[in-house]
Amino acid sequence: MSGPRILIVDDEPVVIKSAERVLKSEGYDVEGAAGGREAILKLEKGGYDLVFTDLKMPEVDGLTLIKWIRKSSTVIGIVIITGYPSQDTIKDALELGIIDYVPKPFTPSVLLDVTARAVEWTQGRKPREEKAHEEFPPAMAAELDRVIEHYRKIPGSLIPVLQRAQEIVGYLPPVVQKRISKGLNIPEAEIHGVVSFYSFFTMKPRGDHNIRVCLGTACYVKGIEGVVSKIRDTLKIDIGETTEDRKFSLEGVRCLGACGLAPVMVIDQETFGAMSPRKALEIISRYDSTVVAAAAAEPGADLAEKES
Ligand code: FES
Repeated sequence: MSGPRILIVDDEPVVIKSAERVLKSEGYDVEGAAGGREAILKLEKGGYDLVFTDLKMPEVDGLTLIKWIRKSSTVIGIVIITGYPSQDTIKDALELGIIDYVPKPFTPSVLLDVTARAVEWTQGRKPREEKAHEEFPPAMAAELDRVIEHYRKIPGSLIPVLQRAQEIVGYLPPVVQKRISKGLNIPEAEIHGVVSFYSFFTMKPRGDHNIRVCLGTACYVKGIEGVVSKIRDTLKIDIGETTEDRKFSLEGVRCLGACGLAPVMVIDQETFGAMSPRKALEIISRYDSTVVAAAAAEPGADLAEKES
């Protein structure tokens, strides 16, 4: 198989099994390792592009495994799968160049979303991709350079620089991350990790209105999947995509901190709770009335549910 080869490392067999089931259903080449030691034995044989690892494991824990991987390879992408990571642990892992993290328990959508980004990252590490990123409007580049220059000597300025860069360019594609990496002398992998970790950063251009759907556990249990599939079918975009007319982007996030209102959707800065598929479409149509027509045209659109 020519696709990316993924190793899932976790001491809980059920985590490996469910990740394998989800990823294999999408055609990924996946294997499991029951701990850090077994993972190292497998990785020594080579051939893996991505490693998803738990942090707390007996004998060889996740951070030790990540350090080992980073010593032997800079192109293997690493994602952590963990229950309740502390900010310190995340910081340590980011410094070691992880791409992202998947919270436990994870939903299939979150796992697939993170995997797609991680695969993109591993492909971006291959030299053949280098020249594809060199289209960057000179005016934006100059403005970005001014921002980098302003923050260059200020410690801990990566996040403000990324925020300003996103305001200037609209999103944070690899070419922007690379420029910031050079300007601030911070490894690209670390920048990529930060951009992937915080949901307010995006690597893809956004539409006029950004729809964020919460894929966290509380929202998942209360039915956000139905809301997502309704939006997907109506706007004809998947999570992480923007409509062709650039009016809407759809983004999946892990918890919007409003679990009591689950399931939750946010459009731009406005939060909407207790979402149902129909309510979501009604709200989206306030931003673009043509969505109403699209929703109404769907057979049985009004019969799909009863509001409580
Ligand atoms: S899980 Fe959706 S807001 Fe917390």
